[in-house]
Amino acid sequence: MSTHHFLTLLDFTPNELQEMIVHAVELKKLLKQGTPHTPLQNKTLAMIFEKSSTRTRVSFETGMIQLGGHALFLSPRDTQFGRGEPIEDSARVLSRMVDAVMIRTYEHAHVETFAAHSSVPVINGLTDLYHPCQLLADMQTWFEYRGEIKGATVAWIGDGNNMCHSYINAALQFEFKLNIACPIQYSPNADIVKTAETFVNVMPDPIAATEHADLVVTDVWASMGQEEEQNDRQKVFQAYQVNESLLAHANKDALFMHCLPAHRGEEVSEGVLNGPQSVVWDEAENRLHAQKALIEKLMT
Ligand code: CP
Ligand code: NVA
Repeated sequence: MSTHHFLTLLDFTPNELQEMIVHAVELKKLLKQGTPHTPLQNKTLAMIFEKSSTRTRVSFETGMIQLGGHALFLSPRDTQFGRGEPIEDSARVLSRMVDAVMIRTYEHAHVETFAAHSSVPVINGLTDLYHPCQLLADMQTWFEYRGEIKGATVAWIGDGNNMCHSYINAALQFEFKLNIACPIQYSPNADIVKTAETFVNVMPDPIAATEHADLVVTDVWASMGQEEEQNDRQKVFQAYQVNESLLAHANKDALFMHCLPAHRGEEVSEGVLNGPQSVVWDEAENRLHAQKALIEKLMT
């Protein structure tokens, strides 16, 4: 059997994703009860971070420890990745020593190349194209608050970025309607939209996208690696702030999510981020529980 990787949400079947979310909820309960659950004893996860991270690093590292294993933080600054050792060689070597590898990097093709040469599972901890781990946490959070997401309407407001692409994958896998509102030049990748076209609508108007939404989601206007575009983007995205007046167009019981870190006063207002519809802190916490379910599935 070939090694199972998690590079996008499409690497699992809808059933497997649903089972993982149910297991994440169980793991959360066990942790809160203080019941140890340590199926990953003597297992090691290597974590390669070529971009910054708070949630992803802490959730994977803590998750591995809670499951009885160990995690290694590897930065390009003090490994040979940063000095040009080929990805293929790094993959061959690391996968002879550790039991799984998580990678956060720029080019999505790099995690694909790594996975192609790795004999152990590879997890995408964010690339320029996708952020699938965040979607596990978002779907768990929705499940805890509202149950099944099938048939619901989700509004994505802002940049057609890595998070947006993973939402497109999620729309296909979980069968929800996804309205994406973005400035035309920041539309999501057309090929990715095409894979889920029966579930996805891309439009320029944030109000139209938010009407009848059950969940409203946004993310920063300039992602990691786009820092020098920040000023230009800020002008173009002005009309795409999720604030109280935009959220009022959604259904009354709509939830608000943001993968964080958030830029208050840019893509989201302080009032929405800390308002009664926001579930962002549960969403952040669920990174831990959802990824524990993921690594348990991949590593046992
Ligand atoms: N949401 C998220 O991935 O956060 P970090 O960049 O802090 O890992
Ligand atoms: N779109 C953001 C997500 C951060 C978790 C970025 O890539 O920087």
